[in-house]
Amino acid sequence: MEQTTRLITHIEAIAAGDYSNDIMELTKDNQPENIRRIAEAVGMMMVRIEAREMRLEQLYAQIKQNSLRTVQSIADALGTRDSYTQGHGQRVGDMASRTAMRAGLSDQDVESIRLAGILHDIGKIGFTDDIFSNEDTRPSDAMLEQIRKHPTWGHDILTNLNFLGNVPELVFCHHERLDGQGYPRGLKGEEIPFAARFISVADCYDAMTTQRIYQDAMPQKKACTILKRLAGPSLDPDIVTIFITELENPSQPEFHPTEKTL
Ligand SMILES: [Fe+2]
Repeated sequence: MEQTTRLITHIEAIAAGDYSNDIMELTKDNQPENIRRIAEAVGMMMVRIEAREMRLEQLYAQIKQNSLRTVQSIADALGTRDSYTQGHGQRVGDMASRTAMRAGLSDQDVESIRLAGILHDIGKIGFTDDIFSNEDTRPSDAMLEQIRKHPTWGHDILTNLNFLGNVPELVFCHHERLDGQGYPRGLKGEEIPFAARFISVADCYDAMTTQRIYQDAMPQKKACTILKRLAGPSLDPDIVTIFITELENPSQPEFHPTEKTL
């Protein structure tokens, strides 16, 4: 009777996910045959389940790694057309996710923001060549139309990649502004996903502080002054404050896609 109670206790522990070897004490020769045979069978079952769980974990890790490589390949595809955008995407992904981390968002949200930052301009792959080589500060109407469409194109390119979660929606919204003056949909305030606003802030900052064909890189201080001016009407003021704090006192070392999984 005592062995039966112990056997049941061990089986219940295994059912709860405790794969210790305690049940092996009931497989010894001094145990009643029925108890010993049940304990051996359950012990064997436990070993097999454990092995399968380990294999599943390995497969899941591989899938995540491959998914990450897919994302990187997509970003690199745009880089072959526009080298600026590739570096820009990495920087925006890094800065936006660090800001989100400082803001206390969940690991999953931080990772979505990082990936959306890397991919936010992927829709530019649909641009005609004249936009990439344009040196005028005022693009033509035809160019403007393409520029206003790139978030939609980016969303459409990514939307069937289920593993990206809400990343396509964040890409869709990265040029929306709180006052409704953004594009492509002219969303206002709370209509814009909170996570997308981190990308908007980092995108604006990086665009100002990067050397381009048609502009000199702006110093950090001046770019922050402009960000503060945009906070409220255009950019989320709380996120601008956290972004500047993170910029001036980095709390996280720079991280890169190869060092983090999805
Ligand atoms: Fe963009």
